[in-house]
Amino acid sequence: MTPAGKEQAASTMPVVLVTGAKGQVGRELVRRGAAHGLTVIGRTRQELDVADAAAVRAAIAEVRPVCVLNAAAYTAVDRAETEAAAARAANALGPEALARACQAAGVPLFHLSTDYVFDGTKKTAWREEDATSPLGVYGRTKEEGERLVRAACPRHLIIRVSWVFSAHGHNFVKTMLRLAKERDEVRVVADQHGCPTPAAAIADALLATAGRLARGAEIPWGTYHFAGAPPTTWHGFAREIFTQAAELLRLKPPRLVPISTAAYPTPAQRPAWSVLDCAKIRRLLRIPQPDWRQGLRAVLAEMAGGPTPRS
Ligand SMILES: NC(=O)c1ccc[n+]([C@@H]2O[C@H](COP(=O)([O-])OP(=O)(O)OC[C@H]3O[C@@H](n4cnc5c(N)ncnc54)[C@H](OP(=O)(O)O)[C@@H]3O)[C@@H](O)[C@H]2O)c1
Repeated sequence: MTPAGKEQAASTMPVVLVTGAKGQVGRELVRRGAAHGLTVIGRTRQELDVADAAAVRAAIAEVRPVCVLNAAAYTAVDRAETEAAAARAANALGPEALARACQAAGVPLFHLSTDYVFDGTKKTAWREEDATSPLGVYGRTKEEGERLVRAACPRHLIIRVSWVFSAHGHNFVKTMLRLAKERDEVRVVADQHGCPTPAAAIADALLATAGRLARGAEIPWGTYHFAGAPPTTWHGFAREIFTQAAELLRLKPPRLVPISTAAYPTPAQRPAWSVLDCAKIRRLLRIPQPDWRQGLRAVLAEMAGGPTPRS
């Protein structure tokens, strides 16, 4: 029996295949699947490189999932500026390989994208049909991935998410907690606006929809936005992190100083306004926006050694 066969034999629940299973969203997908009545078979980058078209086809043939959830991506926004080929392989060519293999196998693809496909010049929340115009290599490769998925696999969900955080991996919450331990003063950009989003909430949104698909529901395929509420700035996010961490992790809050983007130059330019309008996903997929402050509480509780949060 193949490894995937053994994993499936343990359960009669519908099976979904998750790529990028060691990332922030990938880990949450793996650990939250059973709560949605699904067997999640996760493949890490080491086990399945999504840019390897033959390996992708073989994995889908082996696992025979009801859908593929692509949580694999190259997410180092600044490093992408000098590693464009690696970013494009993971963010564009990988999704294309997945989309082609899914289409050939008759399996839908759920793919994650980003607010960084927009340039940040709008002053109201970005809607799905707004024109994309990424500012950097990361955003450009993610936008290309979206186009390739749409072209190769009509039964797709492309879900754009923003400012993802969890107890694992690289993210703003962990960076702030580290800086708070190292410094008395932390300076954070206060003129970029967006929506922090717990990886757990993204996983629940994908799994709830996969569960409906497995039960035979019609899914309105297409592009959606999903992000936490309410909108804030990186500075506002940091303030909430330090407030909650003082309570939950007994962290001594540093002095938090608001600064402008101009005072904190980075290799990649970031959108000034990244707020995503999430009305469509609420209306068509019945998925409400999560309050990111509650998600933050769960993440900090997990870091403090509390029980693993479930959906
Ligand atoms: N993080 C954010 O703030 C953010 C914001 C907006 C949108 N998103 C999108 O949300 C999704 C999930 O992001 P995340 O934060 O969970 O990312 P993450 O923590 O960086 O995880 C991505 C995972 O994909 C793996 N990976 C990279 N290249 C791969 C390849 N060629 N084949 C297979 N796996 C590969 C990585 O492995 P290695 O670690 O070994 O490279 C990593 O485990 C992505 O589509 C991302 O673009 C993220």
